[in-house]
Amino acid sequence: MKKTIKTFVFLFLVTATVACKNDTKKTESTIEYPETSEQATAPENDNTTVVLEGNDQMQFDKSEIDVPVGKTISLTLKHTGKLAKEVMGHNFVLLDQGVDFNDFASKAVLAKETDYIPADATGVLAHTKVIGGGESVTVEFTISEAGTYDFLCSFPGHSAMMKGKLIAK
Ligand code: CO
Repeated sequence: MKKTIKTFVFLFLVTATVACKNDTKKTESTIEYPETSEQATAPENDNTTVVLEGNDQMQFDKSEIDVPVGKTISLTLKHTGKLAKEVMGHNFVLLDQGVDFNDFASKAVLAKETDYIPADATGVLAHTKVIGGGESVTVEFTISEAGTYDFLCSFPGHSAMMKGKLIAK
């Protein structure tokens, strides 16, 4: 009879040990979940950065900017010249598809008080303030629809030269 009890206890211990090992394995595998979800939230560090330079010769250094659809674009406009913003001011203005470029540009030059963005302007997806030589400014935006978008500097007389296409894919 005693032997039966001993056997029972032994079997119980073996079962308990195996159960514990299983528990340990489960714990180990649940530890992996936070790592996976950290990777899933990684897009925060996945912003697309663009640097667009403007100079004293009234030129942007890019006429085409490629960006991904649906991601945060962090665009920095950098004025590499020395001239003041009153004489060689630059901004970055991104127009929605369907906005008439020349119509917008001709209205924008009159809007000095609002950094050459007409107060009643529609279809401006993103813009910076006007900056002068040595300054830089950053604007963040997201393009939700693939396509080709016009960008320009809307400072008086600049849009004929300082313009380009932003292509979202
Ligand atoms: Co300009």
